[in-house]
Amino acid sequence: MNHNPIDQFHELKNRLTRFMMMYKFALDEMETKVEILKEEFQLLHDYNPIEHTKSRIKSFESIFRKVMRKGCGTSLEDIREGVRDIAGLRITCSFISDIYSISEMLQRQADLKIISIKDYIKNPKPNGYQSLHMLVQVPVYMSDRCEMVYVEVQIRTIAMDFWASLEHKIFYKYDESVPVQLLQELKEAADTAAELDRKMQRLHEEIKAIKSPQSSDSSKFIIGDQKFELPVGLLEFIRTESDPQ
Ligand code: GTP
Ligand code: MG
Repeated sequence: MNHNPIDQFHELKNRLTRFMMMYKFALDEMETKVEILKEEFQLLHDYNPIEHTKSRIKSFESIFRKVMRKGCGTSLEDIREGVRDIAGLRITCSFISDIYSISEMLQRQADLKIISIKDYIKNPKPNGYQSLHMLVQVPVYMSDRCEMVYVEVQIRTIAMDFWASLEHKIFYKYDESVPVQLLQELKEAADTAAELDRKMQRLHEEIKAIKSPQSSDSSKFIIGDQKFELPVGLLEFIRTESDPQ
């Protein structure tokens, strides 16, 4: 064992870099998955269920606070198991139905291990908080090994996100002891946001029912930044190809 403090510092820094790096890679993997779902939807259904995504890695300070709060061990292995939201991905959708579609699409992906799902939309928290939380493990392949890394995915609508970010700010401002009157008003605001989500969902379904299918006769389409043009005679070619002999 090397007792030189400088060497020890470098070794610790190295271990922490490796530890945090895994979460960054896991988030990259998850973001690519979500980006693919988003693009596929846009291309095939001319509709985008995802408004935006945001990922974050917990700061050392927050990790440390959570370790203290939970009383879990302080080795990196203990922290890995004890603090499962070091990597977080938030997906904001347009409608409630989109939340469940995205969640089901992720659940069908064979390489993702679903650890738990908490549905705070069907069962909102007493303060009014709503979101769908999925705890997953995503495989990260490196030069010599594969590691399953925890990522906490929060899926919510714009209204749910609006409420949660305001509530979070208020909580911080009052140092976690928010006046009762304000809590009451926040709960009312959450109910209003939920009512708005339900109304938007109804409108969305009504519009979907009357919207005629896209009848684009253009022979051009775009994937990524590349333009494609269907050659004349393609239809006949494909028919001949797929017809039984
Ligand atoms: P933590 O130990 O805080 O992670 O709670 P938990 O393990 O019971 O997980 P839970 O699924 O309840 O919450 C995880 C995350 O959801 C939090 O870190 C927040 O980002 C978010 N969240 C949960 N409840 C609330 C809430 O009441 N208000 C806001 N603004 N965010 C919340
Ligand atoms: Mg958390």
